Amino acid sequence: MPAREILLYGDPRLEQPCEPVEEFDSDLSTLVDDLFATSWKIPGLGVAAPQIGIGQRLAVVDISVGEDPSAQLVFANPEIVESTGRITLEEGCLSFPGLFTKIERPRGVTVAAQDLTGKRFEIEAEGLLAQALCHELDHLDGVLLVHHLRGLKRRMFLRRVDKMRRLGAWPGTLS
Ligand code: NI
Repeated sequence: MPAREILLYGDPRLEQPCEPVEEFDSDLSTLVDDLFATSWKIPGLGVAAPQIGIGQRLAVVDISVGEDPSAQLVFANPEIVESTGRITLEEGCLSFPGLFTKIERPRGVTVAAQDLTGKRFEIEAEGLLAQALCHELDHLDGVLLVHHLRGLKRRMFLRRVDKMRRLGAWPGTLS
């Protein structure tokens, strides 16, 4: 289960919509293992396939960060089928290491998806799990934290991105 390298903001593969998962085979299961390994190593609450350069509608979420096996969730071809309320929360992303920003999300969501074997399921989530699900599902449409920000907030966030790059705080992006 090797952890893979996370693509950082600026890589065009992060901003492309992903293709549906069609094959529920051993390759998919290996990919899911790698996604969990990647998420735990950093550590994060989840990771989406496009963040490791795989343009498939696949994400894993584990808000226990490896502590609780029952918290390990696999989402293939997920969709939000219902959402309730709005809440503004601080959020980060493995593709923007070290940066956080406040954005608005639904307070609760119901997500329909397929599991590792292709079986359909639904999950109702609130709180941190709802936030993590919304975040990872965004990735599958090429939507990133910065796309939720407008005007001055967006310009200030992008200035912080530039600063991280200039300081060499983002691996491989020292310019
Ligand atoms: Ni992210």
